[in-house]
Amino acid sequence: MHTATCNAFSNIAMIKYWGNRDDALRLPANGSISMNLGGLFTRTTVTFSPDIPADRAEVDGKPMTGPGLARISGHLDHIRKLAGVWMRAEVKSASNFPAGAGIASSASAFAALSLAGVTALGLTLSERELSALARLGSGSASRSIPGGFVEWYPGTTHADSYAETIVPADHWALTDLIAIVSRAHKATGSTEGHSIAASSPLQAARVASAPTRLDICRKAILERDFEALADVVELDSNMMHAVMMTGTPSLMYWQPPTLAVMARVRELRAAGYGVCFTIDAGANVHCLCAPGEAERVKAELEAVPGVSEVLTATPGGPAWVERP
Ligand code: PMV
Repeated sequence: MHTATCNAFSNIAMIKYWGNRDDALRLPANGSISMNLGGLFTRTTVTFSPDIPADRAEVDGKPMTGPGLARISGHLDHIRKLAGVWMRAEVKSASNFPAGAGIASSASAFAALSLAGVTALGLTLSERELSALARLGSGSASRSIPGGFVEWYPGTTHADSYAETIVPADHWALTDLIAIVSRAHKATGSTEGHSIAASSPLQAARVASAPTRLDICRKAILERDFEALADVVELDSNMMHAVMMTGTPSLMYWQPPTLAVMARVRELRAAGYGVCFTIDAGANVHCLCAPGEAERVKAELEAVPGVSEVLTATPGGPAWVERP
């Protein structure tokens, strides 16, 4: 039996990636920096067998069909090619956080699938090679292979577009409080969103200025400078959403409570709380808190009308193999 079970944390981008220079290889238009979300993970078992007639997959207890299954099967093809085998596989995957909660399940899912697939077939890949492999499934999955605070270098080829750790999880005790304002499935997924990005007249300016924001963010992390981090994280999120809103078609992920949380976070920071916001392709708001601030910020976020729940994550380690 060629089987393995692996786990990977999701991650939240502090400097976002949006748009690809190559959609098939998922080579991003710009580099990005993220933090793994400790405690929020996907656990995936992959079993390759000559007795399995066609790839099958179950995600959070539901059998996959159509494009969802095709995406997983396409990713297994990359792994089969690396190993030189053509056995079909069974995939069982479950995340411990709610679907549609504004937490990137594709990041943790494709990171866990990549590690489980190569482990099941006995391949030994470097962390860099694994990260590049995970990227083929979902761009942000490249950042869920290494641990802690992570940078994904955009690269120009498959091999040089990978992520690595800037500093490990224990470098800085930040907390991500995820204010849930909607559990609705997003209308436009990120794969489609990336292909729309270039149609915004603002995308070129966002991409051209990303290296400066990456430098500021990396330095803020290294120096544990929360004030500098807060400013650049909010700027970068707002720039990505400006691109989303001004593309053709226009994508508007925010809902009224999204804006209410953003406004409250700004008020809190002005009042001396160490907190800033960042928003992915959804309505929920990730509120990054400086060490020691999470408890009082959480109480404030829970009081914002429209917030149904606040999830908590602290910096997480790399993807890992479960030993039987
Ligand atoms: O990896 P994808 O295709 O799910 O894209 C993720 C895009 C954002 O979450 C919006 C930004 C990012 O860098 O994670």
